[in-house]
Amino acid sequence: MEFESYDVLVVGGGLAGLRAAIAAVEANPRVKVGLVSKVYPMRSHTVSAEGGAAAALRPEDSYENHAFDTIKGSDYLADQDVVEAFVREAPVELIQMEHWGCPWTRDPDGKISARPFGGMTTWRTCFAADKTGFHMLHTVFQTSLKYDQIHRHDEAFVTKLLIEDSRCVGVIALDQRSGRFDAITAKSVILATGGLGRVYAFTTNGNICTGDGMALAYRSGVGLKDMEMVQFHPTGLPFTGILITEAVRGEGGYLTNSEGERFLKRYVPNKMELGPRDIISRAMVTEFEEGRGFEGPHGKYMHLDVRHLGEEAIDRKLPFMRELGREFVGIDIVHEPIPVRPVQHYMMGGVDADISSATPIPGLYAAGECANVGLNGGNRLGSNSLSECLVFGAAAGRAAAHYASSAKPVTTNPVDAMLWDEARRVETAYLEKTGGDERIGTIREEMQRDMDSGAGVFRTKEGLEKLTDQLGGLRERFERIKIEDSSRTFNTDLTAALELDFMLEVSQTIVASALAREESRGAHARRDFPERNDEKFLKHTIAYKTDTRPRLEYRDVRITNFKPQARTY
Ligand code: FUM
Repeated sequence: MEFESYDVLVVGGGLAGLRAAIAAVEANPRVKVGLVSKVYPMRSHTVSAEGGAAAALRPEDSYENHAFDTIKGSDYLADQDVVEAFVREAPVELIQMEHWGCPWTRDPDGKISARPFGGMTTWRTCFAADKTGFHMLHTVFQTSLKYDQIHRHDEAFVTKLLIEDSRCVGVIALDQRSGRFDAITAKSVILATGGLGRVYAFTTNGNICTGDGMALAYRSGVGLKDMEMVQFHPTGLPFTGILITEAVRGEGGYLTNSEGERFLKRYVPNKMELGPRDIISRAMVTEFEEGRGFEGPHGKYMHLDVRHLGEEAIDRKLPFMRELGREFVGIDIVHEPIPVRPVQHYMMGGVDADISSATPIPGLYAAGECANVGLNGGNRLGSNSLSECLVFGAAAGRAAAHYASSAKPVTTNPVDAMLWDEARRVETAYLEKTGGDERIGTIREEMQRDMDSGAGVFRTKEGLEKLTDQLGGLRERFERIKIEDSSRTFNTDLTAALELDFMLEVSQTIVASALAREESRGAHARRDFPERNDEKFLKHTIAYKTDTRPRLEYRDVRITNFKPQARTY
């Protein structure tokens, strides 16, 4: 049987995936690149990034400062060589975006504007109003269109990685339009599938963020690194979870409690609203618990107040926030404070990858939110992730193109058999199964609710143990799901089941890793172990799949120039 075959295959059509595809072609114009995405690329989750992308571009800034802020922000769990490489490449990538036509907001002298962001000691977050992700995604998507070497497979859902002789040689994907399973072979594969926020109920993440790439790699034997490190952003709109960008605070917005007090003076006195996300989220939850939150129909919340900034500044720099206030809360933020509360936003953990985005499986790379290259440690600083997608997407593209140039061609025989097996697996487990009595939506909602309460901003041994059992129970019930749609064309019931299967898998790694890390570091706050313990836990957690619970290993963090210190702001 003949298969579509590429030198480099990218899975994921967001910022990291598109940047990787372009970098592969730039590195070697003779490579043929495939790009598989479960949604049309402009619908990737990058589109919803708001506040900006960090790079030391301004004369008063330096690589060293950006590196230090990132490492301190990570609570010293970042690999420092990776951070040092990142801060040097980030300005190069943002200037590249400028050359490709990204419509940055500009200073009067025409330079790209920067704004302050949490945990950064200087203004280094470059932005395009408050729709930075939308504009950056447009820029790379349009740039990708000029390369005939990039062939897209839109709306194809990858269900399995093809591993032959311990090497990754492609994927099996469900073409959602026809319902057909295809093997797509490649000499190297890059996972750039984004985050997993949908394992939580209250999240800024779109429905598509279901941890697909993490689960695919994990099932193929790659470890998932630092999965206990889940980021909660302080300012989500109650009920919808829609992100109210940190840029609101960067531009001067205040957070106040029900007593009208800027409560952050008790938690991050030197930084106030520009403290890092983990600390501000904990401060808000603590205030709620101590009775100083507002009560609303969707739970407790705080006020984020921008009234003092004035209409002109709001319309120039935060126009989308005004639109969100009107459309989703029925308020005009020029005249009323915005209700906000902490919301799951980002996954620091991900597919174990190195500084060039290579995973331990030859031919397999990972970049962007689905990967953990060692950059973000225990807490990512806001606006580092768009730059990360560019820097490590490009690194992955170059490394994958280089690997492909000397890799053996992929043989078709075992692929044929793997395609047949995978198509049968999905058909038997889902489409042809009869007698199931569990609904996908019910299990998904229970998982999300359980994750919110057991693996949220604060964690405890009891809560995590209970969550382990709950996830175990949900996995058993998942085996009895019923697929109500048996058609082949755009069977969203089937893709929802495949996504839920992935989410249950990755959730288990979050909980197992969190239970074992008996300390508090970055976003991982254990009430029963409130201190950071460098002696025991200045280490990455790596979770490996077994037939039962994840098996955990630990790896030393790489320290170069910044000795771990107490993290105060
Ligand atoms: O608040 C924000 O605009 C989010 C930015 C980020 O997560 O990097």
